[in-house]
Amino acid sequence: MTDAPSARRVPLVLGIETSCDETGIGIVRGTQLLANTVSSSMEEHVRFGGVIPEIAARAHLEAFVPTLRQALDTAGIELRDVDAIAVTAGPGLAGALMVGLSAAKGLALAADKPLYGVNHLVAHVGVGLLDPAAEDGAGEDGAGPAGMLALPENTGALLVSGGHTEILRVGSLTSDVQLLGSTIDDAAGEAFDKTARLLGLGYPGGPAIDAAAATGDPRAFRFPRGLTMPKFEGSAEAPGKHRHNWSFSGLKTAVARAVEQFETAGRPVPVADIAASFQEAVVDVITAKAVRAAGEHGITTLMLGGGVAANKRLRELLAQRCAAAGIELRIPPVSLCTDNGAMVAALGAQLVAAGVAPSSLQIPADSSQPVQLISV
Ligand code: KG4
Ligand code: ZN
Repeated sequence: MTDAPSARRVPLVLGIETSCDETGIGIVRGTQLLANTVSSSMEEHVRFGGVIPEIAARAHLEAFVPTLRQALDTAGIELRDVDAIAVTAGPGLAGALMVGLSAAKGLALAADKPLYGVNHLVAHVGVGLLDPAAEDGAGEDGAGPAGMLALPENTGALLVSGGHTEILRVGSLTSDVQLLGSTIDDAAGEAFDKTARLLGLGYPGGPAIDAAAATGDPRAFRFPRGLTMPKFEGSAEAPGKHRHNWSFSGLKTAVARAVEQFETAGRPVPVADIAASFQEAVVDVITAKAVRAAGEHGITTLMLGGGVAANKRLRELLAQRCAAAGIELRIPPVSLCTDNGAMVAALGAQLVAAGVAPSSLQIPADSSQPVQLISV
């Protein structure tokens, strides 16, 4: 194992992300973004209506070297220049994670660089520290490398994607992350994808529903908000165990029933109204629970991450509810909200700067890595 690089200088870190269907390579210098190259295998999953793990793993293998080359070229550096290599160790699809992890170990060994196996969810939060304006190496001969900014005190993160729906409290990116709530069944993006399939809107479903909902009436159908009954939520003094958790499976069933009723009656399915009402139900329950969890845990800055952060209605309602609760909302650009390597590099740089010991080259991929395990 190589020693941790000096914590005194701003570290140049290469980040590798392969936990789902995006092969992401990012390069940062501290909090300055130098490159964020992503190759997605989404097109290959379209005909299956969801990510097929084996196809994703093979696509990572094929995309890895060209994506790495492009990121290094964009940043104007060579592998020997970096101080450390960070890679997503989990959570995610096991086979997909293994491709990135094996590649990272190979690079670390070949170039004699320390390796940091990091948590994908915490990396989604770390990206909030990056200054995207500095991409393409603009800062290299400009004002000099950015320093190591820290997250504001009492930061929280709402992560909503095809793979996760979580609310976190982040005391410190490198040593203190706590899971406040998560979905107990489908992830929010998964609910969008499955519902879009029911409505014949194709994959990925999120953007399709977002677009269809624009012409629909969000009050046309009253779809259920999962885990919002008092028995699940309890009271402020005696909270139920699902107070800050979500469930989207009942909502999906309710949409299926509504579609069936129209089809059985031989009437056209009101796709836009169902899409708008479904979206309203998802966004209402996500934002209500996130803002309440934030309030009850003293969170004053909330960061939004994950692919569903692209949803217009989610951004709008979350902004309204955060403002009403006195919470500052931060939403990174969509290219940094979806899975990418820059977020992994950003967290890696924080770990290096904090003097955290590098990982062993023996670390395994952990498909269900808990959020508290920031690096392994
Ligand atoms: O973070 P992400 O790119 O990675 C995975 O989880 O794989 O998120 C993808 C998810 C998909 O489920 C997609 O349907 C959803 O994000 N998504 C959206 C929107 N754009 C993407 N969901 C709702 N509204 C959108 N505009
Ligand atoms: Zn993700």
